[in-house]
Amino acid sequence: MTTTFAGIIDPVIMTGDVNPMMMRAMPIPPFNIADPRFKADPYPTYTRLREEAPVHRTALGRRRGAWLLTRYDDVDALLRDPRFAKNPANARGEGGGGDAMWMPPFLRPLARNMLDLDAPDHTRLRGLVQKAFTSRMVEAQRPRIQALVDELLGRARRNGRIELVGEFALPIPLTIISELLGVPPADQQRFHRWTTRILSASGPADLLALLPSVWMLFRYLRRLFAARRAEPRDDLITALVQAEEEGDRLDEDELLGMVFLLLAAGHETTVNLIGSAALALLRHPDQAAALRADPSLIRTAVEELARFTSPVELATERYARDDLKLHGVRIRRGEMVLGVIGSANRDPAHFDHPDTLRLAREPNRHLAFGIGAHYCLGAPLARLETQLAIGALLECAPGLRLTVAAEALRWRRHAFLRGLRELPLAL
Ligand code: HEM
Repeated sequence: MTTTFAGIIDPVIMTGDVNPMMMRAMPIPPFNIADPRFKADPYPTYTRLREEAPVHRTALGRRRGAWLLTRYDDVDALLRDPRFAKNPANARGEGGGGDAMWMPPFLRPLARNMLDLDAPDHTRLRGLVQKAFTSRMVEAQRPRIQALVDELLGRARRNGRIELVGEFALPIPLTIISELLGVPPADQQRFHRWTTRILSASGPADLLALLPSVWMLFRYLRRLFAARRAEPRDDLITALVQAEEEGDRLDEDELLGMVFLLLAAGHETTVNLIGSAALALLRHPDQAAALRADPSLIRTAVEELARFTSPVELATERYARDDLKLHGVRIRRGEMVLGVIGSANRDPAHFDHPDTLRLAREPNRHLAFGIGAHYCLGAPLARLETQLAIGALLECAPGLRLTVAAEALRWRRHAFLRGLRELPLAL
């Protein structure tokens, strides 16, 4: 199994098996972690899992099962621990490309990205993009992000309403990552269309339907690579293409995989943070009022909103390199292990009153951006985008309110991510 945030080939996770730890307790009712109804409030289930079954067996669709870890300390250790591999072939001691081998060859770049690789491949690929995402480079984007936020909110003010996910939370990260990569403005519309179509797929059943979009996106990107080789510009694609040419360190498939990962990770996650953060503030008017009264709270506020909403609900998969035992449960070599970030971030062993939103919370060592070698490359960018978006939204719309009943809100079907489909608001 190979996963990007896109969920293209993510399984639907059905769980409910009772593991040996639970023999004393009433079984935890079956749940499907990708189900929109589960997404609406997964926290009572996570509380039971942390207390009764911190290593919980799940079934992944009709494929092999996996272990879910729900305690903060275990998720933290899993993400840092080199005894867990990202590439399943490394865990099984095989060479080659792991489970992605079944994929049609033209799709393989989707699975050849650094999020699915271990050192030294991961280190090499990460080194190539790292310098484009330092806090200083990201800070240089501030005026552009602010201008975009103001433009989108200006339109909403004139209309008196906004569908916050589609008209605000999505265009901000999508436009910024497209511009950073160097997609010309005239092409951004169709570029957005292809990527959104690919990224909205939620399982293997959708694979066939998304093939044309993948094919067109890759054809487009290959042409863009050629254009930047011929005529370099000051953008990320030029930098990556030059890295490819200089040291033969990035082949064409790796280049496609990298650009696709940056696109997917660069907006699929931030859209969820901005959307869920806005909803959390609507549900906690005292906290929204505190932030309005003191805008300097925005930095800790965004950290707390990331902890509280966990837009990446599950870290991507790891595979045990050896047999091991955790809380009395045997995990065998090659088995898949998933860290539930959404649960770790609500673990009372690490956070005081974890189910309370406290925008001034400090320290706040949440795992929303992961930890260890695969720690989110785009965290500084995501933080800046969310700070500017949420800050401006609160400032420009003191009377912000939902235009539908809270129960009518729908969550997206996705195993690894947690985000709203829509958030209709009046200003
Ligand atoms: C709120 C927004 C975001 C959240 C919550 C988030 C969360 C995460 C998490 C949890 C991981 C680690 C996954 C794992 O270890 O299995 C990760 C990795 C990654 N993120 Fe983000 N992310 C966000 C935004 C972004 C943005 C804006 C970009 C790029 C522009 C980005 C690029 C990446 C990349 C490339 C990786 C893989 C790093 C590696 O494998 O070394 N992310 N992210």
